[in-house]
Amino acid sequence: MSIITIKADRVSEVHICNGEWDLLLEQVLSGRERAALIMSESMSREINTEIESDTQIHVFTIPDGEAGKSSATLLKLWDWLGAAGFTRSDIIIGVGGGATTDIAGFAAATWLRGIDWVAVPTSVAGMVDAAIGGKTGMNSDYGKNLIGSFHSPIRVIVDTSWLTTLSDRDFAAGMAEVVKAGFIADKKILELVEGKDLATIRHDDDLVVELISAAIRVKASVVGEDFKESFHREILNYGHTLAHAIEIDSKYSLRHGEAVSIGMVFAAELSHAHGKLPMKIVDLHRQILTALNLPIAYEASAWNRLLPLLSLDKKARGRTIRFVLLDDFEKTSRLESPGERELTAIYERVSK
Ligand SMILES: NC(=O)c1ccc[n+]([C@@H]2O[C@H](COP(=O)([O-])OP(=O)(O)OC[C@H]3O[C@@H](n4cnc5c(N)ncnc54)[C@H](O)[C@@H]3O)[C@@H](O)[C@H]2O)c1
Ligand SMILES: [Zn+2]
Repeated sequence: MSIITIKADRVSEVHICNGEWDLLLEQVLSGRERAALIMSESMSREINTEIESDTQIHVFTIPDGEAGKSSATLLKLWDWLGAAGFTRSDIIIGVGGGATTDIAGFAAATWLRGIDWVAVPTSVAGMVDAAIGGKTGMNSDYGKNLIGSFHSPIRVIVDTSWLTTLSDRDFAAGMAEVVKAGFIADKKILELVEGKDLATIRHDDDLVVELISAAIRVKASVVGEDFKESFHREILNYGHTLAHAIEIDSKYSLRHGEAVSIGMVFAAELSHAHGKLPMKIVDLHRQILTALNLPIAYEASAWNRLLPLLSLDKKARGRTIRFVLLDDFEKTSRLESPGERELTAIYERVSK
C-alpha cells in the first residue's frame, strides 16, 4: 500500500491498495456513530456492505453515472441523511465512478455546512481525477458540473481491485487522463505505456497500480500548488478545450476521456504548428492513444458546430478561447485566442 498526501482546501491522504478497501474503511469508521454508504445501482451489486464495524451503516443507492448527479438525487440524499439523524460527527462514504463520488462529496459539503467524507473511486477516471483535488458537484438542467463546492474528502481509498469489473471502454477512457498526466508532467508514465496495448496494460496489476499512482501524484502536485482553478491548475486542461466541445457535439455519447484523447492530438498538432512540439512527440500521442483503443479523430463535418462551442467552454475565461499547449515533454504553455483559420487547418489533421 502507498500513501500520497494532497493539499487542497484541506490536507488529505490517498491510500492506494489492491483488495483492502474494507480494512482501510474500518480505520476511518472507528469512533463514528453513523456512516452513509452512497453507491450507484450497479456498484451496489458488487459491494459487500457487511462491513465489520460498530458504526451504524446506512446504505443509500443512487442512479448510475450522470443521472445520479442531479438535484433529484441530492434532495433524496438530504432526506435520507435527515431521516437517519446525521450529525456533524457522522461521515459519508461515496463508492463508485466519478459521478457517484462527485455527488456524495457534494452531499457531504452541504449537509450541516460540511461533514467529513471519504471517496472510494472505482473507475480509473474516478481514481486519478474526480476523487483528487477537492471538487465536488452536480449537474444542472443548464449544463454539466454547474453546481459545486470545494470540499476534499478526509481520505481517498483507491483500491485497484475494483477495476476488474470496469468495461474496457471505461478503463481506456480513464487512461486518457493518465496519458495526459504523462505528457504534461511525468514522462515515466509514457515510457510505461509506450508499445503496450490496452489488454497488456489491464492484465498487469502492478503496472496499473504504478500508472494510477503516478497520475494521482501529478494531479496532487498541481492541485497542491494552486488548489482553486486559476493558473497552474489550468495545465490539467491539456486536450480539454476541444474535448468539451466534442462532448457536447456528441451529446455525451463519447466518454469524457475519449473526447480528451482527440483533444490532446489536436492540442499537440497546434503546439507543433506554433513551432514548439517536435512532430515525433505528436506522433507519440497517436501511437499511445490508438494502442489504448482511444479515438484520435472526429467527424470532419462537425467543425462548423465545434467552433462556436469552443468559446462557450466554461473554462474559457470570458469568451477568449484558451488552449494549453505542450512545448516538450513535461513542459506546457498557454495560447489565447488563436485565429479561426489556424484552428480550422489543425482540425483537418484530426478529422476523418
Ligand atoms: N470532481 C472532479 O474534479 C472531477 C474530475 C473529473 C471528472 N469528474 C466527474 O467524474 C465523472 C466521470 O467519471 P467516471 O468516468 O468514473 O464516470 P461514471 O461515474 O459515470 O462511471 C462510468 C460508468 O462506469 C461504472 N463503473 C464505475 N466503476 C465501476 C466498476 N468498478 N465496475 C463496473 N462498472 C463501474 C459506473 O456505474 C458508470 O456506469 C463525471 O461526472 C465528471 O464530471 C469530476
Ligand atoms: Zn478530464
